[in-house]
Amino acid sequence: MDYSLLAEQVRALAESEPCWLPVLSNTSAAIFETMDDLNWAGFYLVDNSGAEQSLLLGPFQGKIACIRIAYGKGVCGTALKKDAVQLVPDVHAFPGHIACDSASNSEIVLPVHSGGEIKAVLDIDSPSLARFSEEDRDGLLKVVAVLEELVKW
Ligand code: SME
Repeated sequence: MDYSLLAEQVRALAESEPCWLPVLSNTSAAIFETMDDLNWAGFYLVDNSGAEQSLLLGPFQGKIACIRIAYGKGVCGTALKKDAVQLVPDVHAFPGHIACDSASNSEIVLPVHSGGEIKAVLDIDSPSLARFSEEDRDGLLKVVAVLEELVKW
């Protein structure tokens, strides 16, 4: 998997129009198209409007998904709370995992920042166990770095 090429594709998209909605929509599509063995790829947006921060479903590719995820809940909510990448080889062994799509067996979630704050998380799911490696994490961090540099939220 050529993550540098994917990151350059996302850069070209974001340079042509940096608004978060089209960039995150096309980034979801680019990931879903180019990475094999996925059943879901997309974003949850950080919502600061309530008493407690939560995640709200954003642009994605795949089946209908959970609309809102509470702070600290599931893999995505944990990525928000810890502000850290979550690489989960077996989602069924992750305490509190939220099964939006029962086909998911492994998952990677990466926080996306702007101005020193988390703005979204990138969530990618696979039907295979242990689909995501450290190499995938490093490659996807290149894509996230482009989003962090260019997206207007
Ligand atoms: N499994 C995620 C929820 C989102 S869906 O997989 C699209 C979680 O536990 O946070």
